[in-house]
Amino acid sequence: MAGKGGAGKTTISATLARLAARSGRPVVALDADANPNLSTALGMSPDVAAGLGPVPASLVSRRIGGAGLNQPIDDVLNRYTGTGPDGVRLLGMGAPAHADEGCLCSAHAVVSALLEDLGAPERFVVVDMEASPEHLSRGTVRHVDAICLVAEPYYRSLETVRRMAALVAELPVPWVAVVANKVRSAQDEEAVREFCDRHSFSLAGVVPWNDEVVAADRARVPVVEWPPAHSVVAALTDLAGELDRSVRSASTAG
Ligand SMILES: Nc1ncnc2c1ncn2[C@@H]1O[C@H](COP(=O)(O)OP(=O)(O)OP(=O)(O)O)[C@@H](O)[C@H]1O
Ligand SMILES: [Mg+2]
Repeated sequence: MAGKGGAGKTTISATLARLAARSGRPVVALDADANPNLSTALGMSPDVAAGLGPVPASLVSRRIGGAGLNQPIDDVLNRYTGTGPDGVRLLGMGAPAHADEGCLCSAHAVVSALLEDLGAPERFVVVDMEASPEHLSRGTVRHVDAICLVAEPYYRSLETVRRMAALVAELPVPWVAVVANKVRSAQDEEAVREFCDRHSFSLAGVVPWNDEVVAADRARVPVVEWPPAHSVVAALTDLAGELDRSVRSASTAG
């Protein structure tokens, strides 16, 4: 999930992760934001989340063609994931511990190496990116099967998607589409559709605005466990189906 700050990347990542886990798939959620929030959105207990360290850079070796894990992925998962509701396993990129710490190069190398090895036929891996285009410009997410560009129906959010789509087009990612979030009216939806048509982007999902998503957030309850937010969960269930169909066929075609 990529997109402008506040577009809904974490909410959507967490909900898709929980829905996939409920459908019986093994799920790994990767919090690739240096300002991590995914554990709360997944409903992970604060104790488990507090014990989650980032995967250390020492598990990654530099090689020609990019960084790679120097240990089997299953060992890394067993050691560094925490398990949340519905059995979702969470991996963290980690937050900077100190001011003036320097760049995030090694954290990006870790995320990239993890993504290269996380692919397994039935495993659903969702990556919650940060708002900056850095995961794209660095190629950190080059190994994913799909990128959803999450857009709110206003100009600056759509502009961000347009810029990010240009970066995605230079990566070997087989499938990319826009997901409209916080859609309050037919006009909102039309604005996103018109934007997608104009730029020849696919629109994979339209998620309505629902005040109860904010209420769930305030109560620190995952959206999927908050019945009044059902309109959003229903739209994301549709998106999950669309992702499954399109990504499988894009991978087969590739
Ligand atoms: N469909 C929706 N209806 C109403 N509020 C929503 C909806 N989706 C997300 N929100 C709210 O918008 C805010 C931002 O959502 P979220 O944290 O998921 O965005 P983000 O893209 O991950 O942000 P950041 O760039 O800071 O990581 C939260 O308060 C969330 O509850
Ligand atoms: Mg977020």
